[in-house]
Amino acid sequence: RLVGQPSPNFILVIGGLGYIGSHTVLELLREGHNVLIVDNLSNSYESVLHRIQLLTSAHCKKTGGSMPLIHFHRLDYRSRSMRLLLESYSDLVMTINASGQQKMTYRSRITGVIHFAAYKSVVESIAKPLEYYQNNVCGLVSLLQHLEAYGIRNFIFSSSATVYGSKSDAGVPLREEYIVHHPEEQVQDGHKVVLQPSAVGLSCPYARTKYFSEAILADMAAANPEWRIVVLRYFNPVGCDPSGLLGENPRGEATNLFPVLTQVLTGHRKMLDVFGSDWMTRDGTAIRDFIHVLDVARGHISALEWNADRGNGFRSFNLGSGSGTTVLEAVKSLEAASGRKIPLNWTGRRAGDVGFCVASTDRALKELGWSTRESITQCASDLWNFVQKATSDLAAKV
Ligand code: NAD
Ligand code: WQD
Repeated sequence: RLVGQPSPNFILVIGGLGYIGSHTVLELLREGHNVLIVDNLSNSYESVLHRIQLLTSAHCKKTGGSMPLIHFHRLDYRSRSMRLLLESYSDLVMTINASGQQKMTYRSRITGVIHFAAYKSVVESIAKPLEYYQNNVCGLVSLLQHLEAYGIRNFIFSSSATVYGSKSDAGVPLREEYIVHHPEEQVQDGHKVVLQPSAVGLSCPYARTKYFSEAILADMAAANPEWRIVVLRYFNPVGCDPSGLLGENPRGEATNLFPVLTQVLTGHRKMLDVFGSDWMTRDGTAIRDFIHVLDVARGHISALEWNADRGNGFRSFNLGSGSGTTVLEAVKSLEAASGRKIPLNWTGRRAGDVGFCVASTDRALKELGWSTRESITQCASDLWNFVQKATSDLAAKV
């Protein structure tokens, strides 16, 4: 840095080359933020970084804006190097208190953290619970200790609709206050009620890692009011950037509906196993709240801005569209986008599944001013674009 030049600030994005992280990083860059990405590539590829750089540079050329900074560190966020990295983005400053005592403290150039890094497979979490608790929960605890040491306390956390557990069984849109971590007072029908913490029917270790992580964050905020923590409970993120250059590209076996559908479209799978045709829904298949990943990305920007202006303590928000789509309707939207028939294999319900999982969107709209813009039709057409690009890239390499 040249003497006299102001130090640039960064948003730290951990897990920033993964599916949701990469779209959020792109959105942050498009908004002019400098971004520091930490990712160990356990479920992503370095090529994603080059694509983000390409798309950002195209955006800056189009808008005439200057190129923001993109720093990448290939690092496990649980490693010791994480502390050194945070130190290298902090300045040591001297403060003098009212009684004239001098103290050296860190002032970080990281003004906000978005934490995506975690393992996310429900099935794998049942087979390897310790790996999940280690990465998703223990990793979070040591990260929070490091952030605390450098005074970085503006934190956005990737949570999931999975924390609602068996609350989904009621078949009504899920409200944030169904899951609280400390008693909360609320007025219902003119009467004061106290909502109590409870983890009901969390069906797998993955779900429990998200619930425990939220609880740890709520405890942190209660212990030190300087923390500003937002947890975002995503429903079912799908789709991708319309460029077709970023998308969901897991290293392991695909188990979620849209990645499986992608494999059917690319010919890597013969057909889709439809888990259950006997749910109490309009066509017998389960209902989910599919949400475009770019809407999810924008939700993070809204949360960061809200946290900087009004945030204090701990607040949870659903990121969902508020409307439900059946599995069959999702299949039809992809058939329409691709002009291809998707072969179906009707099979029994998958263990641990629920028939209905849709967000209540009131809190995010009222407090963050955020709501979804994109439809399931847009999700399907963007995904089809990604599939075609990925197929032609592969053909070009051969
Ligand atoms: P992803 O696997 O595509 O992205 C996670 C990224 O974190 C990957 O790039 C991976 O390499 C990285 N990572 C994992 N462990 C790491 C570690 N120890 N150190 C450094 N990097 C590490 O997942 P995603 O779909 O983008 O999900 C992001 C977050 O959102 C996760 O916390 C997930 O649990 C949560 N979430 C996802 C969904 C969904 O359907 N995709 C829904 C709800 C919540
Ligand atoms: C959607 C619907 C399946 C695959 C999970 C996690 C949740 C969150 C998102 C991270 C269900 C049906 C699926 C297939 C099918 N992840 N399906 N055939 O189960 O809503 O949520 O991912 O936090 O925590 O639990 O998503 O995409 O797996 O399934 O019929 O091959 O599609 O039964 O009804 P789900 P999903």
